[in-house]
Amino acid sequence: MKIGIIGSGDVAKALGGGFLRHGHEVTMGTRRPANLAEWAKQNPNAKIGSFADAAKFGELVVLAVKGTVALDALKAAGAANMAGKPVIDATNPIADAPPANGVLKFFTNLDQSLMERLQAAMPEVHFVKAFNSVGNAAMINPKFPGGKPTMFICGNDDQAKATVRGICDQFGWEIADMGKAEAARAIEPLCMLWCIPGFIRNDWFHAFKLLQRG
Ligand SMILES: NC(=O)c1ccc[n+]([C@@H]2O[C@H](COP(=O)([O-])OP(=O)(O)OC[C@H]3O[C@@H](n4cnc5c(N)ncnc54)[C@H](OP(=O)(O)O)[C@@H]3O)[C@@H](O)[C@H]2O)c1
Repeated sequence: MKIGIIGSGDVAKALGGGFLRHGHEVTMGTRRPANLAEWAKQNPNAKIGSFADAAKFGELVVLAVKGTVALDALKAAGAANMAGKPVIDATNPIADAPPANGVLKFFTNLDQSLMERLQAAMPEVHFVKAFNSVGNAAMINPKFPGGKPTMFICGNDDQAKATVRGICDQFGWEIADMGKAEAARAIEPLCMLWCIPGFIRNDWFHAFKLLQRG
């Protein structure tokens, strides 16, 4: 598939590399191409452009920017460039305040997630929450002694979720579909839980698994 990635941070770079390794075409979007100079040398098949270039290019788009500026980045990417397309929302609503005893602060509350805000601002875009509650080092085909970890996803459009399900499968994840956009109220805070072992004992390699009836 053609993948457009909005972002140049660790998540954008990890996912971008993963898509390339799995044979997809990738355009990375950034306001500052210099951010990606080193990564581009290691990934010569990727194209680098603006947020709008990435959004236009992608049949599937990934949003991987700082949560506080997610809507600004989407506006710069252009709603029309993403209309009707699946957009993986990997962002988290992390506030600028420091964590308390390893617990991140969010600028949202339990009755409204960041993804719902984005979905409301751009109703024509098919947002799917995914990849927000695992560190970038474990996003692509991670190996854990306990087997495949679980990617919790949600979103309003079933076809978009089917596309994201296919990608998660390629990237070595089991999928747990939690339903519509409101489920992001529960999925986004998984990021807080995921980060606690990192902050309190510098352990940053783990993932969630949902154990289910066989
Ligand atoms: N780090 C992880 O392992 C991890 C794991 C799961 C989820 N997440 C979430 O994924 C997202 C990306 O995380 P990250 O660590 O890769 O990067 P980040 O440092 O949170 O974000 C970097 C990106 O934010 C963009 N940005 C910053 N200020 C901006 C502004 N004023 N307007 C528009 N764009 C702006 C930057 O754009 P330019 O490219 O133009 O500089 C850059 O692409 C975050 O929401 C984070 O919570 C992170």
